[in-house]
Amino acid sequence: MSRVFSGAQPSGNMHLGNYLGAFKNWAKLQDSHECLYCVVDMHAITVWQNPADLRDQTREAAAAYMAAGVDPDRSILFNQSQVPAHAELAWIFNCVARIGWLNRMTQFKDKVGKNREKASVGLWVYPNLMAADILAYRATHVPVGEDQKQHLELTRDIAQKFNTDFETDMFPLVEPIIQSEGARVMSLRDGSKKMSKSEPSDMSRINMGDDADTIALKIKKAKTDAELIPERADDLDGRPEARNLIGLYAALADISRDDVCARFAGQGFGAFKPALTEVAVDKLAPITTEMRRLMADKAEIDRVLARGAERANAIAAPILGEVKSAVGFIGASS
Ligand code: TYM
Repeated sequence: MSRVFSGAQPSGNMHLGNYLGAFKNWAKLQDSHECLYCVVDMHAITVWQNPADLRDQTREAAAAYMAAGVDPDRSILFNQSQVPAHAELAWIFNCVARIGWLNRMTQFKDKVGKNREKASVGLWVYPNLMAADILAYRATHVPVGEDQKQHLELTRDIAQKFNTDFETDMFPLVEPIIQSEGARVMSLRDGSKKMSKSEPSDMSRINMGDDADTIALKIKKAKTDAELIPERADDLDGRPEARNLIGLYAALADISRDDVCARFAGQGFGAFKPALTEVAVDKLAPITTEMRRLMADKAEIDRVLARGAERANAIAAPILGEVKSAVGFIGASS
C-alpha cells in the first residue's frame, strides 16, 4: 500500500517556493494516494514563535493547503501537536539516530551558522521528529522541495536501523517525490539563496497572500542580468537569477524551461517580467482569495484541524503501540 505524508512549518508566510515545490503537488497526489498533510507546529517552535502568532500562522498554513487544493474530506489535514504519536515516536528515534548523522545535516548547519551553542536542542533533533511524522503512519511517499532530500535520507537511515536493531520490518523506506520544475525556487534578490520564510527581506519572496500589485512590484524589482534569454535552458548556466525567473515561469505555467526559453528567446528581462507577472497573478489570485475566505472563519479551520487530528490519531496510535512493544515497553499492546 502507498501512503503520502507531507508538511510545512507555520513559521511565517507561505510563499511561492512552498506552493511550487510542495503544495501544488500535494493536491494532485490526492487522486492516486491516501494523503496526510500536516501543519508541523512542533517543528516551528524549534526557533522562537510568539504564541498568538503561532496560532494564526497555523490556521493560515491550513488555509494555504486548502486554497492550493488539499481537500480535508479526501485527505487528512491536521496540526502535528494534536497527535501525540509524533512526539512519542520522535523520542524513540532520538535513541536510534546517531549524533554523527545529525551533525551532517546541512540545513541545521546553514541555520545556526556560527551560533551553534545558542541553538535549541530541538533544532538539532528536528530531523528525528520529521522521521517520526512520516513513519508514525508508515507513509511510503513524501512530496517535498529539493531542500528536504537529506532529511528524507535520514528518515530512511532511521527506519533501516530500527528494523535491523529490533529485527522487524516495522517501517518502510520512504521515497521522496520531487517535481522537475519548482523544486528549488530561489530568492528574488539573490539567485544563490533559496526563497525562504525566514529571509528578513519580504522583497525576496512572493507570499501566497500577496495581492497583484505587490506581486508585480516584487517581480519588477527582482534581480536579473543584462543578457538576453537564450534558446535553450542549458545556456542559462552561470546566470542564477535569470535561471530562477525562467524556472518560475515554467513551474507556474506547467511547461518546461526549454519551452519558456523557446517562447522568449532573444528578448530581455524587461519584456519577460510583465509576462511572468501575468502568469504569477493568474495562478495566485484565486488561491489568495480562497485563503482570505477561509481565514474569515477561524473556528471552522480549528474544527477541520481537530477532525483531521482524530483521523490521524486513529492510524498512528496502533502503529505506535506496535513500536513500543517492539522496543520492550510494557503497556496495553505488549
Ligand atoms: P518547510 O516548511 O521549510 O517547507 C514546506 C515545503 O515547501 C518546500 N519549499 C520549497 N520548495 C521549493 N523552493 C523553495 N524555495 C522552497 N522552500 C520550501 C519544502 O521543501 C517543503 O516541501 N522539514 C519540513 C517540514 C516537515 C516535513 C515533515 C515535510 C516536517 N515534517 C514530514 C515532509 C514530511 C520543512 O521545514 O518544510
